[in-house]
Amino acid sequence: MASPPRHPAIADTLLLWYDSAARSLPWRIAPVDRLAGVMPDPYRVWLSEIMLQQTTVAAVTGYFNRFTTRWPDVFALAAAEDDAVMAEWAGLGYYARARNLLACARSIAASGGQFPEDEASLQKLPGIGPYTAAAIAAIAFDRPAVVMDGNVERVMARLHAVETPLPAAKPELKAHAAAATPCHRPGDHAQAVMDLGATICTPRAPSCMICPLHALCAARRADRATDFPVKAPRIAKPTRYGHAYMLRDGDGAIWLERRPDRGLLGGMMGFPGTDWRETPPDPAPPLAAPWIRVDAPVRHVFTHFRLELTVWAAQLNAQTAAPIGRFVPAAEFAISGLPTVMRKVFRAGHDALTETVS
Ligand code: ADE
Repeated sequence: MASPPRHPAIADTLLLWYDSAARSLPWRIAPVDRLAGVMPDPYRVWLSEIMLQQTTVAAVTGYFNRFTTRWPDVFALAAAEDDAVMAEWAGLGYYARARNLLACARSIAASGGQFPEDEASLQKLPGIGPYTAAAIAAIAFDRPAVVMDGNVERVMARLHAVETPLPAAKPELKAHAAAATPCHRPGDHAQAVMDLGATICTPRAPSCMICPLHALCAARRADRATDFPVKAPRIAKPTRYGHAYMLRDGDGAIWLERRPDRGLLGGMMGFPGTDWRETPPDPAPPLAAPWIRVDAPVRHVFTHFRLELTVWAAQLNAQTAAPIGRFVPAAEFAISGLPTVMRKVFRAGHDALTETVS
């Protein structure tokens, strides 16, 4: 398609709105300070953007504050133990992000601690794709990069009533976003679109009546905001099945294993169990023990499939010789160090053991 003409009214209107309505976020410089020349710390912008990939602001804020308290700059993070970072990340999901985060911190620290300012150089770093590179270039360095994420796509699809379904519409939506991106204050513009998408131009119930872009929005004019973005029909997610084993020894220590670095939940701690398959595998307990089968399976939804885990729990008595080296003592065990699906397994197993004992 031909590039749409520049559309300065969008940025002008959005920036006015953002100056009074910007959300206060721990990695953000408020617009009034930004206008006075205060620049954000690229480390904090990068960290927040990696955390915000596929995760909401509400879920990220606590993690961001804990990370930056413990590792206030890129050198501190680069020097951290892998296990400490994985444990702080636990619960945020998409664990390859945490491994790439460390690899990226180490690469930046090894080359002097400065983040590159342009999208092409940023994209060469581990874990930084087109979205994150554009977001860092815009927010940390005020480059007029076109930042495309789900929020921006939705806002553009509605403003221009784009009838092409996603994902085919992506180039068209990006062209509209480029036409709206200003040379003046591109970082605040990018954040303004994100805030609009998160607070007003929301997916299911947009608040068109209070939207600053009300008068410019083709979807609103047609009273069809929720018809956009048009989406290609979804393919149902397959279900995979597996077994997971929660074993406690006589001292309350818990059997945990580190999952292989590659693959889902790679490098995270978890319970032993079978592979996850599309036909339910046979049980395969890691050792002989008085296993109790938990009635209701643990369910968890990953990006590409649903998981149904049959949980088995067992309590060893003080006399049973527990295998050496796999048990985490009760005093060192923290559920917060486990990924979400493993927390669910722990709770299910723990409840089953508690019911049996009482
Ligand atoms: N979502 C992703 N990045 C964001 C940011 N910098 N501010 C607000 N929401 C976001």
